[in-house]
Amino acid sequence: DTNLIDTNGLSRSELMDILERARFYENQKGMVPPRYLGRFAANLFFEPSTRTRFSFEVAEKRLGLEVLNFSEETSSTVKGETLADTLKTLAAIGVEVAVIRHSQSGIAEEMVKQNNGVRLVNAGDGHNAHPTQALLDLYTLHKHFGDLNGLRVAIIGDLRHSRVARSNLWSLTTMGAEVVFSGPETMRAPDLEEHAPYLPIDEAIAQADAVMMLRVQLERHRERLFTTREAYHQHYGLTLERFARMRDHAVILHPGPVNRDVELADELVEHPRSKVFEQMKNGVWVRMAVLERVLEGGNL
Ligand code: CP
Repeated sequence: DTNLIDTNGLSRSELMDILERARFYENQKGMVPPRYLGRFAANLFFEPSTRTRFSFEVAEKRLGLEVLNFSEETSSTVKGETLADTLKTLAAIGVEVAVIRHSQSGIAEEMVKQNNGVRLVNAGDGHNAHPTQALLDLYTLHKHFGDLNGLRVAIIGDLRHSRVARSNLWSLTTMGAEVVFSGPETMRAPDLEEHAPYLPIDEAIAQADAVMMLRVQLERHRERLFTTREAYHQHYGLTLERFARMRDHAVILHPGPVNRDVELADELVEHPRSKVFEQMKNGVWVRMAVLERVLEGGNL
């Protein structure tokens, strides 16, 4: 495919190709010949981002791409130009690939259907999908555990608003991992529970090989879904007590940014068994692999 919209369209062998290519880039420490010199990528972030936006920019620059950064406030979208017309404009001036983050679920797929002349990489659309986050999570787990078949991954927290949970469900299960969900009742997601069981948090944590904590997405809450940060941490967070009950070999993941002492105890963010910063580092290798795949029309 010449776009990346979600992980649900990727087969096991396609996922393996991306992981292998990311491993190549990691082994080279990203220092590869600038393959795409003189070609243009644009990053369109309509929602805030630190790690996705900058790791895409690093990945693009390491591949030799010229990077155009779009700012919503200073663009013609404030004059009413649609996203489709913005993409057509970028295509007309020579942009080949656009990385898009947007609050509207499904917008990336909609743009692909319209074929606006530019290849698309979804960097997060509403609560729908965040495929490169799921791929970097997959890469991190594959690097640590090797074969993912039968690996038990507990995804815990604000499931209702989590595009990370959705994209991870598809890629992890395609690779043969066993996903379970947990979190507050007020943040449950029936669409996810059609595909994997929902367990009480202590049960989910006790059996997991990897515990993926999700950020509480306050910016998407339309009503009050929990009482206090302290109460959330005590009931649904990875506290030091819960960490002590994890399996000895089990690791912690979190997509970031972390609400310290809410979903994850402050002391655990930099813990040796935490992958939080390694996930961020791996994001560059995975995004290099994804950009290459998209620019090469799916062939690596
Ligand atoms: N994990 C993630 O998407 O982080 P940012 O919102 O900072 O890009």
